[in-house]
Amino acid sequence: MVDVILGLQWGDEGKGKIVDFFAKDYDVVARFQGGPNAGHTLYVQDKKVVLHQIPSGVFHPGIINFIGNGVVLDPVTLKKECDTVASFGIDLKKNLFIAERTHLILPTHRALDKAAEISKGNQKIGSTLKGIGPTYMDKTGRNSLRVGDLLDKNFTTQYIKLRMKHQRLLDNYNFQEDITAWEEEFFEALEFLKQLNIVNGEYFINNQLKAGKRILAEGAQGSMLDIDFGTFPYVTSSNTISAGVCNGLGVAPQHIGDVIGVTKAYCTRVGSGPFPTELEDATGEELRKTGNEFGATTGRPRRCGWIDLVALNFACMINGVTKIVMTKADVLDAFAELEVCTAYQVDGKESREVPFQMGHRKPVPLYKKFAGWNTTTSQIKTVDELPATMKTYVSFINEYLGVDIHYISNGPGRDQLIQVK
Ligand code: GDP
Ligand code: IMO
Ligand code: MG
Repeated sequence: MVDVILGLQWGDEGKGKIVDFFAKDYDVVARFQGGPNAGHTLYVQDKKVVLHQIPSGVFHPGIINFIGNGVVLDPVTLKKECDTVASFGIDLKKNLFIAERTHLILPTHRALDKAAEISKGNQKIGSTLKGIGPTYMDKTGRNSLRVGDLLDKNFTTQYIKLRMKHQRLLDNYNFQEDITAWEEEFFEALEFLKQLNIVNGEYFINNQLKAGKRILAEGAQGSMLDIDFGTFPYVTSSNTISAGVCNGLGVAPQHIGDVIGVTKAYCTRVGSGPFPTELEDATGEELRKTGNEFGATTGRPRRCGWIDLVALNFACMINGVTKIVMTKADVLDAFAELEVCTAYQVDGKESREVPFQMGHRKPVPLYKKFAGWNTTTSQIKTVDELPATMKTYVSFINEYLGVDIHYISNGPGRDQLIQVK
């Protein structure tokens, strides 16, 4: 069976911590989409680690970590990350496996990402500039190079051909930066990548399934950043939702078990695009400060606001969420009053649906107010100790979504997770 953990909002819901927590119950942890645009924070031996491409099960000895074909892989970031992980005594030659069909992010993809963003001016996506969009474009455009191609003697010729094509595009953008150093790093990192376990991914994962192994698929980004269902064009370039697991790993839909959706107790977004419940005031600033809401990949301040049940309901629907984990409940500790968005006003009408083109329709959030819990919750270990006001908040969300919150996270630490169901 393949269970899935994914983000229900605009990313950074705390997926890394939750995957790390649940990983002990699985044999394989697999990334199925996205690339180094992800930044998943874990605490290992009280040290903070941010993973971008390696699955968040990597700190559990004996667990296989798998990078599936749906991922776009930057060898340079991977090499750096492998060095960090190895410094904890983890042997990646034993427990990291990469699908041959995984597409490679080239230095010119990063350059194209940057050039495209500059050309968009104030309509920029706010991309992480990791080359994600251009690499997925080359995938669907049937141009790109894959990890398996590395073992082909024609790799360099294929690289030069693609690089020349990219150069013409870069010239069009009038992109002048010298990327020689990026290319040197890239070729060095390719030699490193070749030493890792490169496998026929779909057979690899299906053989694990046949052997009765338990697999956990780790989502990156969030449902509202999905290429098809997110706030297009302010999205990432992959299917971040549960359906992405099937084509991102090569597993058939009947193997999907639980879909565990992660949401913050409030909401954040980094980068441009619509965000109906955003608070551009002192309350938003307080959420950012208390929640330490700064991007794990880019360091950018995250935009903050109240929890949006219209968007969450939409995310539960398209993902088939069976269980919810609510993170960062402790961040709301000091707020006397909380607000929950229960509907949008769109074109003068009240609606519980996410409209097409949120950016143009500009939904106005309608709120229900709740009393805050006004107490420190980060030391709490059991459901019985939770303040009654938090239980009311949680029950309302459960009822609205028709899916229950099973765990509440009350701090960044590995042990700060309370089972409530
Ligand atoms: P991801 O991309 O979904 O894995 O999330 P990020 O790692 O980008 O961002 C989540 C941030 O919140 C990280 O700094 C985590 O250490 C932190 N975090 C996770 N869960 C909690 C929580 O329950 N409370 C608090 N205060 N911080 C948390
Ligand atoms: P994790 O896995 C939050 C956002 C970017 C930008 C848009 C497109 O840590 O939750 P891209 O680089 O993909 O072309 O950027 O998506 N974005 C994320 N926001 N968390 C992430 O990953 C993100 N990955 C991309 O800020 O708005
Ligand atoms: Mg993140």
